[in-house]
Amino acid sequence: MKIGHISDIHYGKSWMFVERKARKAIERINKEEVDVVVVTGDLTDYGLRDEYKGVKKLLEELSSPYVAVPGNHDARHEGYKIFEEYFGERFFIKKFGRYKFIGLDSSEPDIDEGHVGREQIERMHSSMDSNSVIFLHHHLLPIPNTGRERNILVDAGDILKLLSEYGVKLVLNGHKHVPWVWNINNIVVSTAGTASCERTPYTQSFNIVEIDKKIKIRKINVSDGKEKIIVF
Ligand SMILES: [Fe+2]
Ligand SMILES: [Fe+2]
Repeated sequence: MKIGHISDIHYGKSWMFVERKARKAIERINKEEVDVVVVTGDLTDYGLRDEYKGVKKLLEELSSPYVAVPGNHDARHEGYKIFEEYFGERFFIKKFGRYKFIGLDSSEPDIDEGHVGREQIERMHSSMDSNSVIFLHHHLLPIPNTGRERNILVDAGDILKLLSEYGVKLVLNGHKHVPWVWNINNIVVSTAGTASCERTPYTQSFNIVEIDKKIKIRKINVSDGKEKIIVF
């Protein structure tokens, strides 16, 4: 299973959103011929309808199917309601190959902090297995080089325990605009950087994730196409 993992597009009118970079990332993902693209939130900058319209149009250029969950920016100004109009349910399960992709909404309207909550946890209990790939916006584990730790999921401990019990092998998230990978209790937790936002101390990037017996993560720089490979 080959997954394109793109995050934190931040589509909007701010100079910090660079449309050219978003397009470049999409072009490269199309060349990779992935089975599915996972978009882990902050698709928009302010959760506004025009931004949703713009980012939807952009994502329609993907030649593979894609799934998306909202981030804290998407939930601003009641944007989580518009998210549903453009991208469907905020909690969902979709099967690609033998993998069950479970999308979680970790956003709260006008709060930057992440939260999964009892309702989604119940639904995870009834649907999860070791072939589940979990994806959400907020980070489950601290990310180094991001300053003082904040916005981590308030229920991160419960979620990690649950994933460990069900033998989940892969979690994809975003939010910090800094790419990083942790391997904890045999769960690979991969945080993608931002694909097209200047609000990052690093270069814009996205990941190509291959999951089979092993998990291979290729972090690809949007500007020069150079990659770094991590295998678990
Ligand atoms: Fe973001
Ligand atoms: Fe975020």
